[in-house]
Amino acid sequence: MMTKTKKFSIVIAGGGSTYTAGIVMMLLENADRFPLRALKLYDIDEARQAIIAKAIAIELKEKAPNIEFTWTTDPQTAFTDVDFCFAHIRSGGYKMREQDEKIPLKHHVVGQETCGPGGIAYGMRSIGDIIELIDFMERYSPDCWMLNYSNPASIVAEACRRLRPNAKILNICDMPVGTQRRMSQIVGLQPEDLEVRYFGMNHFGWWTSVKDKAGHEYLPQIRDYVAHHGYLTQVEVDTQHMDASWQATHKKAQDLLAVDPNYLPNTYLKYYLYPDYVVAHSDPEYTRANEVEDGREKRVFTAAQKIIDAGTSEVGAFPIDSHASFIVDLACAIAFNTHERMLLIVENNGAIANIDDDIMVEVPCIVGKDGAEPLTQGKIPLFQRGMILNQAMVEKLVVDAWIHHDYQELWQALTLSKTLPSAQVAKEVLDDLIVANREYWPELRHADHEVH
Ligand code: NAD
Ligand code: G6P
Ligand code: MN
Repeated sequence: MMTKTKKFSIVIAGGGSTYTAGIVMMLLENADRFPLRALKLYDIDEARQAIIAKAIAIELKEKAPNIEFTWTTDPQTAFTDVDFCFAHIRSGGYKMREQDEKIPLKHHVVGQETCGPGGIAYGMRSIGDIIELIDFMERYSPDCWMLNYSNPASIVAEACRRLRPNAKILNICDMPVGTQRRMSQIVGLQPEDLEVRYFGMNHFGWWTSVKDKAGHEYLPQIRDYVAHHGYLTQVEVDTQHMDASWQATHKKAQDLLAVDPNYLPNTYLKYYLYPDYVVAHSDPEYTRANEVEDGREKRVFTAAQKIIDAGTSEVGAFPIDSHASFIVDLACAIAFNTHERMLLIVENNGAIANIDDDIMVEVPCIVGKDGAEPLTQGKIPLFQRGMILNQAMVEKLVVDAWIHHDYQELWQALTLSKTLPSAQVAKEVLDDLIVANREYWPELRHADHEVH
């Protein structure tokens, strides 16, 4: 365990991400509890990263000159002498996110970043890149921990379980964090006042309890609110999920709740429970990738360029992504053995009693210096169990297909997904995805059976 006086060295993998600047500002804000001695950015896209990095360099020179700041595209430089790697890479970039969304929509199927065929396509791109990052980390800083929020987190986590079972990697998602902030607002508390029970997989789960520290149960009160408004609240609650399309998603939670009013649903379940609604409300010519390119990406890179041109951050500092402070909570839990309770993506091993041990689930965990200890959530009902087992086998088939370079397994994965109506449509979507992903996926072995 590290002592409280220790200062940390961090590498952010995906240095050119739209989130990097906000996370660095958040790190500065949290410097008293998580002090930095060195910060590095690592990316494979030198030009993209340089814009973010040069602006951050100006900010840090003005606000925290003691932090040694560098950026690089060289893995050895990036991963040498680091305590933590915060990983948020996007394999294939926005160009390929757009394809993940638009190709399925062309076939009247859900087109989404992490759910359905788009998430599967993204998974097939991400697995190799994340494994490579783990190998860099283990080669150059064997004691380093990777806090990974690169998507699709669920498929990535299953791939790590299979391919690097002993790696020091923790996979985490911000969606429960964001929704819990909304819940706290609904009941007039602060997010840190809430203690939850939750079961499922990443972007695929349910809250079974939301209590305050004194043990009062708020689930019925939140349920009554969500039944009318979904998770829509009046006040701006976070920086990340405020665009119009996100507001519609928060609202749609009321229809997710209707299917099983006992538990509070994760908003991502809409892609599995109402795929026809999602397709009907999507514009196949302008998807979320386009919205982000025209919104967040443009805002962040314009702000960075403005700082670079002026040579000072006085022209407008980057907004602090306070929402991302859960990453510091996680790093502190490991560094200082705080035994903080957090939702993480971990191997089940009995945490959910009546599903397989080897499924990567998302459940509350106690986090300390050796990583995560999952808290048991007991047995779950038939409906959720059926959904989870279905989705878990889809994701296992994806990882199998990546490992074996097997067309058949990937076709089965798409066919099994609740977002696809038939093996025929699954094949048509898959064949288009293969063409679009030629540069990124392993070449799949084909057993070319005509479908008649
Ligand atoms: P982005 O495209 O702006 O940034 C990703 C960066 O990663 C790019 O600069 C790209 O060049 C770089 N990159 C791609 N492949 C790489 C590799 N192999 N090694 C190093 N760098 C690489 O994307 P974004 O919108 O900022 O999102 C970044 C990631 O964070 C995505 O995976 C997104 O899905 C994820 N995300 C996850 C959560 C969560 O809760 N789990 C929340 C928000 C975003
Ligand atoms: C949520 C999810 C992330 C996902 C993000 C997409 O935060 O938890 O996993 O990457 O939304 O947001 P975007 O604004 O890029 O559509
Ligand atoms: Mn997520």
